[in-house]
Amino acid sequence: MTPLLKIASIETLYYDRIYALHGLSLEVKEKEIFTVLGPNGAGKTTLLKTIAGLLKDQPKKGIIEFMGKRIHRLPPEHISRLGIVYVPEDRGLFRELTVAENLDLGRWGRKDAEIQQDYEFIYGLFPILKTRSTQQAETLSGGEQQMLAVARAMLRRPKLLMLDEPSLGLAPKVARIVYDALNQIRQRRTTILLVEQNAKMALKIADYGYIMESGRIVLEGTSKDLQENEDVQELYLGLGGETISPKGWRLYKKRRTW
Ligand SMILES: Nc1ncnc2c1ncn2[C@@H]1O[C@H](COP(=O)(O)OP(=O)(O)OP(=O)(O)O)[C@@H](O)[C@H]1O
Ligand SMILES: [Mg+2]
Repeated sequence: MTPLLKIASIETLYYDRIYALHGLSLEVKEKEIFTVLGPNGAGKTTLLKTIAGLLKDQPKKGIIEFMGKRIHRLPPEHISRLGIVYVPEDRGLFRELTVAENLDLGRWGRKDAEIQQDYEFIYGLFPILKTRSTQQAETLSGGEQQMLAVARAMLRRPKLLMLDEPSLGLAPKVARIVYDALNQIRQRRTTILLVEQNAKMALKIADYGYIMESGRIVLEGTSKDLQENEDVQELYLGLGGETISPKGWRLYKKRRTW
């Protein structure tokens, strides 16, 4: 079966000379959750922006196909209309608009009969958004902003929902609400590409994972395989936290095998 998203040997550069993605390849299959894990500066955000078409004239090389059709270097509006919806790390909300206004803009002019059903779905995921509907987005807590960003993305009925570190800065309890919602979104058969530093949470929910380092994929496997992999355990799932300290990463780099 053709993967929903296929990326082959892409190269993305900043200022025409700094390689952020260096021959990166990966595939995302339909109706599953795929995660990309990696330390600071690995290129995770650049990867999502490249897919979404937000970096002009990038990727310089390689292929990105969505549902069997080439999408690389298409304008971002075009890519988005095909059903790829990107929730950036800063959540991309209209800060001065209310919750309800942000959601209405997220509809993108949809008037179909199913829109009501979609509102019910998102309010079911995040009931708090209903009680906050007249509140300005910038006055929401970080967790509520993330919920609003995910809810707004869902009103576009994405075929591929891409999220950049949705748990970043959230208390564990709040992060769990967001992750529970992602689980329900998957049950609705929406494919998710999730970029995270919180490997523990991401591997718990994902079906398949990629580990990225310096613009390349260095390891991939089912979440179960990755959770059982000794290197992954030590670096990402080890004692003392769920994120990687730069020092730990450098020490690790010297003796890693991938
Ligand atoms: N706008 C930019 N201009 C120049 N270089 C950039 C730009 N954005 C990112 N980079 C560089 O590209 C590399 C990858 O950055 P990127 O933000 O994609 O990493 P990341 O994996 O998302 O990191 P983090 O976990 O900190 O979010 C880094 O070396 C970064 O300095
Ligand atoms: Mg990033």
